[in-house]
Amino acid sequence: MIAAALEARRRAYAPYSRFRVGAALLTSRGEIIAGCNVENISYGLTNCAERTAIFTARAAGQLGSSTGGPTVLAVAVVAKGATPPTPCGACRQVLAEFGPQCVVICANLRGTRQTLTLAELLPHAFGPW
Ligand code: THU
Repeated sequence: MIAAALEARRRAYAPYSRFRVGAALLTSRGEIIAGCNVENISYGLTNCAERTAIFTARAAGQLGSSTGGPTVLAVAVVAKGATPPTPCGACRQVLAEFGPQCVVICANLRGTRQTLTLAELLPHAFGPW
């Protein structure tokens, strides 16, 4: 998953922040879907790597809903930095929709890793389940 996230990070479009991020999801069907951050000159329209991966997976029929179908078991997020990056609040909420029990593996380019649960990152989440 980290390898897939690193590969996706190479396709990041981050000319404004220069902060390139890659993410890769593992679904309960055993599929890995990756995404990268995609920025915009209208900065607020930027899409994070995690949400790119989730929206890509859902659009391809690889994720279900709260009533059934494949869920996100884990997500890996990779970026450069002294400490591994954790998903932003918006991405935590979107992850909760498709993988409320998922594990979040955060890694930097030096190989430092931190593994957390989404429940730790987003306690008392608002969800459809
Ligand atoms: N970003 C991500 O892709 N994922 C995160 O979890 C945090 C932030 C992106 C958004 C923006 O393109 C850049 O990193 C700087 O915030």
